[in-house]
Amino acid sequence: MKLCPWIFTLSILAIFGCASSLEKQAPAVTPAMVARSSSTEGILQQGRALYIAHCGRCHEYQLPDTVSDADWHVVVPGMAWNAGLSKQDEHAVHQYVIAAQSKK
Ligand code: HEC
Repeated sequence: MKLCPWIFTLSILAIFGCASSLEKQAPAVTPAMVARSSSTEGILQQGRALYIAHCGRCHEYQLPDTVSDADWHVVVPGMAWNAGLSKQDEHAVHQYVIAAQSKK
């Protein structure tokens, strides 16, 4: 059973690999994001979770930075409809993508 440690190591690496690419695709909520958002940390966390759960289903995650504020205002309602989100969830995702933009 010499293979076992390898399988163990590889699966740990795979888990960390996925976690770090997720971090790139959906930046974690930081105090700076909360500060520049008009929302609470709870809403941003909820928005991020919804974004992770729904927004990479039909296409690659569209990074917050790749879309301007003005365009997010147009895109989010359409995509929330695609994803079957409630108005409340749509609001949370919208707050999250706006806050997650590095520039502003
Ligand atoms: C049911 C499938 C589906 C889901 C779920 C979905 N999208 Fe999309 N998305 C599409 C399709 C199809 C397009 C390309 C056509 C279009 O613009 O409508 C697209 C395009 C986009 C674009 C590019 C729009 C542009 O005008 O350049 C962005 C940004 C985007 N989606 C973000 C999101 C976000 C954020 C979510 C989560 C709330 C999401 N999508 C969920 C299907 C989906």
